[in-house]
This record gives sequence, C-alpha cells and structure tokens, in this order.
Amino acid sequence: MTDKQKKAVVTGGAGFIGTHITRELLAQGWDVVVVDNLSGGKKSNVPKDATFHKLDVCKTPALTKIFEGADAVFHLAALPRVQFSIEFPQLAHQANVDGTLSVLVAARDAKVGRVVYSASSSVYGDQKKMPLTEDMTANPNSPYGLQKYIGEEYCKLFCEAYQLPTVCLRYFNVYGPGANEEGAYALVIAKFLKLRREGKSMTITGTGKQTRDFTHVRDVVRANILAAESKKVGKGETINIGAGHNASVNAIAKLIGGPKEYIPARLESRDSLADNSKAKRLLGWKPTVSLEEGIAELKELSGLNK
Ligand SMILES: NC(=O)c1ccc[n+]([C@@H]2O[C@H](COP(=O)([O-])OP(=O)(O)OC[C@H]3O[C@@H](n4cnc5c(N)ncnc54)[C@H](O)[C@@H]3O)[C@@H](O)[C@H]2O)c1
Repeated sequence: MTDKQKKAVVTGGAGFIGTHITRELLAQGWDVVVVDNLSGGKKSNVPKDATFHKLDVCKTPALTKIFEGADAVFHLAALPRVQFSIEFPQLAHQANVDGTLSVLVAARDAKVGRVVYSASSSVYGDQKKMPLTEDMTANPNSPYGLQKYIGEEYCKLFCEAYQLPTVCLRYFNVYGPGANEEGAYALVIAKFLKLRREGKSMTITGTGKQTRDFTHVRDVVRANILAAESKKVGKGETINIGAGHNASVNAIAKLIGGPKEYIPARLESRDSLADNSKAKRLLGWKPTVSLEEGIAELKELSGLNK
C-alpha cells in the first residue's frame, strides 16, 4: 500500500522564503496549496504544480475551507520589515498579528495536523549577552519584533487552550536567491548585490559594525520541513534557526567586493547571533551553507564574477 500524499498549505508562498518551501515540498511529493494576497509576493513565483489562492489571511472562513485536510500549515504571510513597521505600525499589525490569529483559528477549526510559524530573531531586540538563547526575555525594539512575538505567544496559547499542534521557528537574517532587493525594505545582501550590478556603491547604514547571523534560505527550508515532521515538537516550542556565526555589514560588503558609502544609522539592534543548539536537539537541524559559499553563489547568479 502506498502512503497517502501529504497536504501542506503555505501562507505567504509567493514571497521569498515561502517560494523556496513550496518548491521543496513539491519536490518531496507533497500536495501544496499557496495562499498569498500578493501584497509583497509575485504570482509568477508560485510553481505551476502548486494550487494558488489569492487571499488575505485575515479572511478566516475562506482560509478554514482551504486548510481542510492539511497535515501542515507553514505560516509565512507577513509584512516582514522592521523599518516598514516603524512607519506603518497598524498596517503591519493587521498582517502580522490579526493575520496570525486568523491562521490559528482556521487551523483549529479545520483540525490541521500542525502549524509551523515563521517567527523572527527581531523578538530579542538588544540583549546583554550573546549568543541569543530561546529562554532570554523577549525585548523587541520595533513594532515588527513585538508583532512577531505576539504571534509566537498565540501559537503557544492555541496549543494549550485548543490542542492545536504548533511550533515557532525564529529565523535570523535569511538570504539567498530570490530575496527582495527593491526599495528601502530590501535585505542587506540582496541590496548590495543589486547596487554592485548597477555599478553603484554599497550603502552601509551607521558604522557598518552591526552584526547579523546570516542564514541561508535552503537551511531555513529544511528546518521548516523537519519542524512539520519531527515527533519531538508541536507543543508551541520556540526554536532559533540561525547559522550560529555572525558577520558585520562591513564584512558582507568586503565579501561582495567593490566601492561602499556610509549613510546615517537607523533604529536597529546592534548585534545578533543565534545559539542553535535547541534546533539541533529537537529537530536534528544544523546549518549546511556557509556565508562564503552562499555569497559566492549569489555573485555567480548575479553575473558579478564575470
Ligand atoms: N527574510 C528574513 O530574513 C526573515 C527573518 C525572520 C523572519 N522572517 C519571517 O519569514 C516570513 C517570510 O518572510 P519573507 O522574507 O519571505 O517575506 P516576503 O515579503 O518575501 O513574503 C511574505 C509574503 O506574505 C504575503 N502577505 C503579506 N501579507 C499578507 C496577508 N495579509 N495575506 C496573505 N498574504 C500576505 C506577501 O504577499 C508575501 O508574498 C515572514 O513571516 C517573516 O516575518 C523572515
């Protein structure tokens, strides 16, 4: 007898990380449904083999129908930029908090097998010690960080109050092919590569000494699928998904190579570095793509090595 095909719903599946998860789930034989309102993502990012619904995750009744029969819901839909949330805290709240609550209600009502929530290292804010461990008190310093933290708390509560299996993955700065490179909310590596392609200087905010734990999107995808399948999680756990090495923005500019320019600092945490031992223990996960390899691949894809 063959195993029944597993069904996954990926919210935010037309965005950067969601597209990578969708592709890998399809490659592993899952039936995949993508829900995205295309506020940030693109329909052309969604593979043809996935079923696509253009829908806002706040529309709970429609979402509940789509969730029926799902073994896992990967909840990525969000307005995920710190600076955007500082400018538009209410808009960000609707997507990040109301949207997550709606996903959890729909998942509870449709009795889905598990919700894997995309949480964020931004919940840590500034901490006195590094590396960052999951038991530290959250100290968000932006609406986005707080909103992602509320999402985690809701995931935990839905597990306790309604027995909905949930798990929260706190990603550290995710990079890789397809990352947003446009405008003020672009991710630093993608933005630098775009500037270099255009023959412009890389713009470094502040001193450039701020560090980030850059984590490759392929490692984040593996963590998601492990979190959906591991028998050791599903009780609202919070797990860091970070490479466990950090690099300064200056170091990134050096790895990419080329002229740079310093622009005024903005509100952001000084340092970030994941303790990823819980992910190893509970998921058997460890990062596999080094920053040097990841950036070399992106330079190749951008045609910067020619
Ligand atoms: N990229 C990172 O470094 C990073 C780090 C930590 C956490 N995360 C989290 O990972 C998730 C995915 O991030 P990403 O970088 O792929 O972002 P992204 O902007 O590329 O993708 C988010 C997707 O959600 C969709 N969306 C937004 N609001 C929606 C709504 N109300 N209803 C339906 N769809 C909606 C957008 O159209 C977009 O396609 C987010 O939850 C984010 O908070 C990302």
